[in-house]
Amino acid sequence: TITLRFLQIEGQGFVSEDEYLEISDIKRDQSGEYECSALNDVAAPDVRKVKITVNYPPYISKAKNMGVSVGQKGILSCEASAVPNAEFQWFREDTRLATGLDGVRIENKGRISTLTFFNVSEKDYGNYTCVATNKLGNTNTSITLYEISPSSAVAGPGAVIDGVNSASRALACLWLSGTLFAHFFIKF
Ligand SMILES: *[C@@H]1O[C@H](CO)[C@@H](O)[C@H](O)[C@H]1NC(C)=O
Ligand SMILES: *[C@@H]1O[C@H](CO)[C@@H](O)[C@H](O)[C@H]1NC(C)=O
Ligand SMILES: *[C@@H]1O[C@H](CO)[C@@H](O)[C@H](O)[C@H]1NC(C)=O
Repeated sequence: TITLRFLQIEGQGFVSEDEYLEISDIKRDQSGEYECSALNDVAAPDVRKVKITVNYPPYISKAKNMGVSVGQKGILSCEASAVPNAEFQWFREDTRLATGLDGVRIENKGRISTLTFFNVSEKDYGNYTCVATNKLGNTNTSITLYEISPSSAVAGPGAVIDGVNSASRALACLWLSGTLFAHFFIKF
């Protein structure tokens, strides 16, 4: 008699003592290499590796609003997790954006797509939609390019913040520290 045994090499070590490995309701973390060994009492086990890829539709894992002042370079980025990798499109309202039009460049690298404005002008401020698509589906999110005054641009990367609410909170903090600083000056 021959026994077949499946073992997930990395991860949770799924084992099946059957001729078939049946995984119902497969999860993303069950992707990976499985080892199938055929055992009998006589010979050394015959081992083969089987690779299982779990495909799933995109979900957007990171998207940041960005504040930039007129005349500066602005970069919006959108990160999507998907297997196979997502393809990206950027829209402003119903208009699809493309590299070379209106001074923007779109770059896709693996999970991340960036929309770069080389020289931000007033008309660039607003909402942009990042759409991530693979053969299993698509999703989208809205990202805002908002105006900041040139003086606050020196705040650096810390000024780039997730979401509208945390952005306004962070602005409140900046304002608060400005106030404390002013008090400090008045006192001494
Ligand atoms: C950016 O755009 C403004 C207005 O269109 C223009 O005056 C300026 O020279 C541009 N700057 C660069 C670096 O291209
Ligand atoms: C941009 O999106 C934000 C949040 O989703 C919304 O509150 C705002 O009204 C939108 N702005 C425009 C110009 O559509
Ligand atoms: C974004 O997603 C919503 C709901 O899932 C959909 O109604 C809308 O058409 C999508 N927008 C784009 C530009 O794909």
